[in-house]
Amino acid sequence: MKGKQKVVLAYSGGLDTSVAIKWIAEKYNADVIALALDVGAEKAYPEIRDRALKIGAIKSLVVDARELFVKYFVFPALQADAIYEGSYNLATALSRPLMAKLLVDTAHAEGAFAVAHGCTGKGNDQVRFDVSVGALAPEIKIIAPAREWGMTREEEIAYAKRNGIPVPVTVSSPYSTDENLWGRSIECGVLEDPWAEPPEDIYRWTKSVQQAPDKPAYVEIAFENGIPVSLDGRKLGGVALIDELHDLAGKHGIGRVDHVENRLVGIKSREIYEAPAATVLLEAHQALEDLTLSKPQLRFKQRVVQEYADLIYNGLWFTSLHQDLAAYVQSSQRYVTGAVRMKLFKGRAVVVGRQSPHSLYSLSLATYDKGDVFDQTASIGFIHIWGLPVKTQARIQLLQQPEGPLSIVLPQEKKS
Ligand code: ARG
Repeated sequence: MKGKQKVVLAYSGGLDTSVAIKWIAEKYNADVIALALDVGAEKAYPEIRDRALKIGAIKSLVVDARELFVKYFVFPALQADAIYEGSYNLATALSRPLMAKLLVDTAHAEGAFAVAHGCTGKGNDQVRFDVSVGALAPEIKIIAPAREWGMTREEEIAYAKRNGIPVPVTVSSPYSTDENLWGRSIECGVLEDPWAEPPEDIYRWTKSVQQAPDKPAYVEIAFENGIPVSLDGRKLGGVALIDELHDLAGKHGIGRVDHVENRLVGIKSREIYEAPAATVLLEAHQALEDLTLSKPQLRFKQRVVQEYADLIYNGLWFTSLHQDLAAYVQSSQRYVTGAVRMKLFKGRAVVVGRQSPHSLYSLSLATYDKGDVFDQTASIGFIHIWGLPVKTQARIQLLQQPEGPLSIVLPQEKKS
């Protein structure tokens, strides 16, 4: 006899996806396979695995996806300096295409007809999951229980109690959070009032500036082709390096962000982020680029990165445009090798030193001291030509205008 149809559910261990195990099994008369993906959230994965089985999943898998996440998503985004709207390092957004890929791979391996996720119908994450799954495996159905069931939080808890689903202690918290090794986001509760200061107890990874140590810490980060490879001369793998910086920077109160963000689905939402390691690495990486990329390269990269960050935010990872932009970013990193010294102090990560074998900084050109090789007399000819169109236009158009940019009247002069 043929068994039931199978569904692979991205399982977080929280209330929504716990209820979803039962709900999918009933609604679709299906066997649910729970897939918990470890992308560096601080969670007890063995407990999460057991919880899924207790609720009724026929199989419960935990995959340590941290290395994959760092190699294919986090470090490319770091090389790009990818930041959404000047504030958000895209931690959650970067994790979704990887999760979609692992969901699809598991669905194929298990012969499942559908994958499921716990996203609501109001956020960006549903878009990222659905679009990514659609790109990778158009034949696979997508089930999003929290978008379909129309239960309130209270009804969900009642459903859980009725069905013997253990309600995680975190449901008493008014906040909705998501975390991985690149960052943590906090929404809901009092944070929905953009005028309200975030209460201190929402933060898990970062100390307040008041509680941060009174003595600064220094750390030297070495990069190879835009990828961080060591801390203070100790070679480290990506996950270990991020973990170590996470603790150090968090202790010094670095990486808190309070941002009103434009969601893809058309609403503004107030988001709090904690990203201690990412904040330090992004600062350091950009400092090394300042040293090793030319001015037009830096200018052009900013334009590429704006597109790249939007694309990641908007769930378009699995596209040819992404491939094209990523290729530019990769190419831009071929001389971004060297070291940056960071000072971590009272909530700030400040670049205090940088060096590179490919540095474009030339002391003999920059210095005002002995050894100056810059030919100052050559500036006269340069300025003559540079200023030529300015002079021409001023003479023909601007000097004529009584209220033009050249007719600044000082207040004293006006009186007389
Ligand atoms: N606003 C961020 C984003 O869209 C964080 C979302 C966090 N996701 C969540 N399910 N709580 O990427």
